[in-house]
Amino acid sequence: MTWSVRMDQLVLSLIILFRIAFVLGFDENRNDNLAVYWGQNSNGDQQTLSYYCQDDVYNVIPLAFLYVFFGTGGEPMMSFADTCNEGNGTFPGTALSNCTFLASDIEYCQGKGKIITLSLGGADSSVGFTNESQAEDFADTVWNSFLGGDSDVRPFGKAVLDGIDLDIEGGLPTYYNKFVDKLRTYTDKADKTYYITAAPQCPFPDAYVGPAINQSRFDAIYVQFYNNYCGLNYPEQFDFSLWDTWARTQSPNPDVKIYIGAPGSATAAGQGYVSPEVLIQYALVAQTNYSTFGGVMLWDASDAYSNDRYDKKIKDALAEFGQDVDNGSSSTGTGGTGGTGTGQECFQDAFVTEGRNLIERDGMSDLYTKEQGTLHLLTSIIHHSFKRLSAKISGKDYVKAFRKYSLYRRSEL
Ligand SMILES: *[C@@H]1O[C@H](CO)[C@@H](O)[C@H](O)[C@H]1NC(C)=O
Ligand SMILES: *[C@@H]1O[C@H](CO)[C@@H](O)[C@H](O)[C@H]1NC(C)=O
Ligand SMILES: *[C@@H]1O[C@H](CO)[C@@H](O)[C@H](O)[C@H]1NC(C)=O
Ligand SMILES: *[C@@H]1O[C@H](CO)[C@@H](O)[C@H](O)[C@H]1NC(C)=O
Ligand SMILES: *[C@@H]1O[C@H](CO)[C@@H](O)[C@H](O)[C@H]1NC(C)=O
Repeated sequence: MTWSVRMDQLVLSLIILFRIAFVLGFDENRNDNLAVYWGQNSNGDQQTLSYYCQDDVYNVIPLAFLYVFFGTGGEPMMSFADTCNEGNGTFPGTALSNCTFLASDIEYCQGKGKIITLSLGGADSSVGFTNESQAEDFADTVWNSFLGGDSDVRPFGKAVLDGIDLDIEGGLPTYYNKFVDKLRTYTDKADKTYYITAAPQCPFPDAYVGPAINQSRFDAIYVQFYNNYCGLNYPEQFDFSLWDTWARTQSPNPDVKIYIGAPGSATAAGQGYVSPEVLIQYALVAQTNYSTFGGVMLWDASDAYSNDRYDKKIKDALAEFGQDVDNGSSSTGTGGTGGTGTGQECFQDAFVTEGRNLIERDGMSDLYTKEQGTLHLLTSIIHHSFKRLSAKISGKDYVKAFRKYSLYRRSEL
């Protein structure tokens, strides 16, 4: 079958092309970033921070957590399980851990193009603001102690973190917008780029950070699609489109990116863990279907790394089809799509319908387990056709080609 052979060759060469184009560091405009929390030692075998920065799998590492806003002496408190806690020394008159020894790890990771942020909150925390000035003063503290400011109290020494993440799961939801706005007055003036993110639970809107993300500028939202009815384990209720719509129509930052947050192992969360194959399906559909998709977030490094490199499987799949997405239009393509237009949308609809049919009705998931890589190959045709050949073949022809190819693959088994 000449057609199939030619299609195989095309897919292979395009995959090779894409791998060469693969950007190793963090790039906020790309849709193949992997953000992985580090610090809480969820799996019990947490390694040093630099250990997880040795390869190119992680792009963003939020350090978890700064879990008390106003502790002894009015200073915050942090804990990174056995790696750094109050037992490792505190600043005089405070209960703030001295984690200066982590500076070299942080800088090592940053040197590899990754961004390291500080996550505020967590499940076990004492956080929140009762008025505006308290929130703004706390922004000063965070800027001076962890970011580009100056203070005698620098828990990571000379290391300058790349931003802040709000994983608020308790306390009052008020004034976080004031905190972020004040922080922005510093970061906007700085030479270095700082990132502000939040990690709401999937029920929309989030009870804690919902108001803040709707009022202030955030760079990315790591939606926790677990421990809830809308988690990855409930495909009927999983709803990325709610977050996509919010991002495009209500977010003060219209370029905000949405990440699919997932547990890194079966024990990482109460519920919501799915196999790497299933998470890859979710991620690739979102990567193709939504211009707001920024990548995947995993909880946490110890879980995802020890789970047969779940983290790497996800990153590899994301990177294979990753793109520089600028307001929804591809900027790495070799020409072709040339602007928006309803043609592209129709084409996309055709792909999604056909892909869904193949996966659900025609049992593609089953096929994938029989032959590792088949789904990948099919999805790669979808992506490459969609992103690169849409100018050349019409949606109808494409669907025909897709069907023909899948039949060919199945007859081969
Ligand atoms: C920090 O404290 C833990 C105990 O909680 C210990 O195992 C670790 O070695 C300490 N780290 C340093 C750098 O002292
Ligand atoms: C924090 O720890 C570093 C060594 O890691 C030490 O040099 C510094 O003096 C400590 N700071 C305080 C305030 O104890
Ligand atoms: C804000 O709240 C803090 C902490 O409760 C309090 O000390 C301060 O007086 C309050 N400031 C204003 C302006 O209400
Ligand atoms: C977000 O803010 C807009 C007004 O700027 C408002 O119309 C909308 O209801 C808010 N959405 C949420 C989820 O709070
Ligand atoms: C693609 O996005 C559209 C618009 O949000 C949505 O209606 C559709 O369900 C999405 N398709 C998939 C497969 O997620």
